[in-house]
Amino acid sequence: GVKKVNKAIVGIAGELVKGTTTTVHYERINSEIRIDTSELKNIIQKVQWKAFDRIRQQLAWETGHSEIEVKLINAAIVDVRIDGYKISNPVGFQGKDVSISIFNAYAPMVHLGALQKISDDLNLDLLNIAAEPYAVARSMGIEEADDFSAVFVDIGGGTTDVAVVRNGGLEGTRMFGLGGRAFTRRLARELNISFEEAEILKIKYSERKLNESVSSKIEKKLENDCDVWLRGIELTLSEFSESNILPHRFFLCGGGSGLPGLKKALISSNWKENLPFARPIEVSFLQPKDVVNIIDETHQLKDPQDITPMGLANLALDFVGEEKVLSGMLRRAVKMIQK
Ligand SMILES: Nc1ncnc2c1ncn2[C@@H]1O[C@H](COP(=O)(O)OP(=O)(O)OP(=O)(O)O)[C@@H](O)[C@H]1O
Ligand SMILES: [Mg+2]
Repeated sequence: GVKKVNKAIVGIAGELVKGTTTTVHYERINSEIRIDTSELKNIIQKVQWKAFDRIRQQLAWETGHSEIEVKLINAAIVDVRIDGYKISNPVGFQGKDVSISIFNAYAPMVHLGALQKISDDLNLDLLNIAAEPYAVARSMGIEEADDFSAVFVDIGGGTTDVAVVRNGGLEGTRMFGLGGRAFTRRLARELNISFEEAEILKIKYSERKLNESVSSKIEKKLENDCDVWLRGIELTLSEFSESNILPHRFFLCGGGSGLPGLKKALISSNWKENLPFARPIEVSFLQPKDVVNIIDETHQLKDPQDITPMGLANLALDFVGEEKVLSGMLRRAVKMIQK
């Protein structure tokens, strides 16, 4: 049986949740002096204010509102460099240019209030609310690897979440409102069956349990939607491609990724012309064994659908264990902003 649960981490995603990594350069007046804790605190505070300011400006520009009620849900330091060298903790280092990249995810106020209320009603201690694509991007434990670049794609029922990691740092996350349910609805409509029946059929099809002629019929019916989905990916990635080559490695997860047409669409060649990929695209699926720090003793987590909650569990460990120095400083800076 399940033991009594009293702590929870809640993941949120969806079209209204956005994440951006902002890199801020901070120039030190005296580069000979070693950085101490209080200077670092000061730097992180300044950097986070700047990052938050940029996000507010960007949101105001995108939505046309000068002031919208957004709340920071998730902040994390993804990269720290001194004079260009990647380091994990600047305390004790000398140098002039400190550059810090902070990932910030934010969402409209109303959502967060609702989550807090649900947790209270369930008597759960809400450790944290985290952006799901952030959890997925961290699930493989790549934060130490300087040369790791990949695109993480979490295809759920209602949305597809994309996270881009370049050189070990999460660059940003985006979502679009198309997931597995759209394909089920298509089958239901085309075959004039109920949603529930269409769902069963879709899963059987994905698991290759149907005969060839039925299979190819379904494939045909879903082709257009796969194409629309692919356009969503293209559009999303175009927002990341301005200055830099896009990672060619794709990791898929989420229940919706089981649909064969989606991987097929990704490796097809008719969408990449306008995007800066340097190499042919490689697609693989994230499996429970790929998630760091989490061991499934129940043996019930078995496919890419389980990755997002496992990734959240991995993040939860950050909140129950001893807090890292930098995370603590950032958390306090965030608290000041949230007030
Ligand atoms: N084997 C499979 N093949 C194809 N699709 C599948 C398979 N298993 C589950 N799905 C689809 O995956 C979707 C649910 O995936 P998931 O559990 O990741 O979504 P979610 O996290 O609840 O949704 P969202 O992320 O949009 O909030 C459903 O649309 C379901 O039809
Ligand atoms: Mg999901």
